[in-house]
Amino acid sequence: MKKPEDQLLVIFGASGDLTSRKLVPALYSLFKRNVTPEKFVVLGVSRSELSDDQFRRKLGAGVQDSLGKGINEEQMINSFLERFYYLPLDMANPQEYYRLVERIDVLTTGLSPVKNILFYLSTPPVLFGPIARNIGSCGLQKETEGFRRIIVEKPFGYDLESSRQLRKELHASFEEKQIYRIDHYLGKETVQNLLVMRFGNGIFEPLWNRNYIDHVEITSAESLGVEGRGGYYDGSGALRDMVQNHLLQMVGLTAMEPPSSMEADSLRNEVFKVFQSLRPIREEDVSKQVIRGQYVASHIRGELVPGYREESGVQPESRTETFAAIKFYIDNWRWGGVPFYIRTGKRLPTRVTEVVIHFKPTPHNLFRKEETCMTGNQLIIRIQPDEGILLKFGLKEPGSGFQVKTVNMDFHYSDLRDVHVPPAYERLIHDAMTGDSTLYSRADAVEESWKFVAPILKAWEREPGQKIYGYPAGTWGPQQAESLIENSSGWRYPCKNLADDGEYCEL
Ligand code: BG6
Repeated sequence: MKKPEDQLLVIFGASGDLTSRKLVPALYSLFKRNVTPEKFVVLGVSRSELSDDQFRRKLGAGVQDSLGKGINEEQMINSFLERFYYLPLDMANPQEYYRLVERIDVLTTGLSPVKNILFYLSTPPVLFGPIARNIGSCGLQKETEGFRRIIVEKPFGYDLESSRQLRKELHASFEEKQIYRIDHYLGKETVQNLLVMRFGNGIFEPLWNRNYIDHVEITSAESLGVEGRGGYYDGSGALRDMVQNHLLQMVGLTAMEPPSSMEADSLRNEVFKVFQSLRPIREEDVSKQVIRGQYVASHIRGELVPGYREESGVQPESRTETFAAIKFYIDNWRWGGVPFYIRTGKRLPTRVTEVVIHFKPTPHNLFRKEETCMTGNQLIIRIQPDEGILLKFGLKEPGSGFQVKTVNMDFHYSDLRDVHVPPAYERLIHDAMTGDSTLYSRADAVEESWKFVAPILKAWEREPGQKIYGYPAGTWGPQQAESLIENSSGWRYPCKNLADDGEYCEL
């Protein structure tokens, strides 16, 4: 990793949870590896009244938490935190921004002659537009002396309309090349590895198309519930929270054409083309192609797990989905007729994210007469945890006859000893500091992904007849999701259901 140019990082929403839990520990890790800029200053901005010292102490506790107990790096943490300053500010109020300009002037004098500034919006989304506008109206976005970049956290809008609105608001002050939209899935090492696996090897790409692939399955399962985020999640749901962004990004990388280079736009053009080719799901087909669910109370290993509607911040009659499974097609030359299945959910039996490529069976089954357990070859790209790649294929069982047994060729990233696999945030922040936007979402792609989910959201809003199924916490979601995959082995279940009880029901 190269050392970025000297710069000031301005974090809006600096007293919030995301800053101390994710962002600052990621910066600390970069600092320890000596890949933060030589001259590096961080200014935290938020409403809370904190002094520089109080701010540093708060962040220090977050860094210590991320390291875990028993690790003492006090000296290193203190020297890292010397770079941090704080400014209490009403971020929505343009009148207050002169104080920001003054503070930035003081903090960047040491960085001259280059005054590079990276803004990071770690605030509730309602503030994205006003902050960008306020930065713009005091001219802080102008690249007269050094670069100006802005990182925005998801959600990028609430629906197609609001995402267009946000795009307009950001573009009123910043050019697209200055905007870095974080989708932290793109920062995951194994998500990037999809590209290397596909385009760095000669053996996979010839098979990577409708002639050899039967269907593609992508799962992102979480075992946790909404973990105190009920208020946010109840207004969002799995489709907005996970599908519109993380899952579709994985679809993009799995399905894209080879880019001409690894330049940001070259790669992002190909992802955009995939999104443009997603066959829209007609509102009348939503109930056939999309299954939504919500977890209900169950016991897991004897312990009561509350249902979603019992979580704090969630409406007692909520119809927000905590599970979504979708069948869809990509209408282009490579994927014509190949179904894609994606699913995501909270309170499933385990935490796992994986892409499963199901290959077509051989044209003629020579071993049909024998009892076989060949289910077709599968290539499984495990994004998390236990990052790695697994290939399943048939081999002869030793002995008489021709019994075929499915065996695994299994690679685990953990086998690569002494290799630091950087967490997603670390990689992404470093990329923004060095001006590499390859792994950031571009405005046009974000808009296309909203177009894809829009008819589903509309159909659900209009109800009636749009069902939502209850599934016991600790199971793999509504049983109805099973019937989405008609033609083959069904979904892959990396582990069994965990619930001792609980009811599958219609809510
Ligand atoms: C976030 C969602 O974007 O991704 C969360 O808002 C979700 O609801 C999280 O839990 C999952 O990320 P990861 O990296 O834990 O798979």
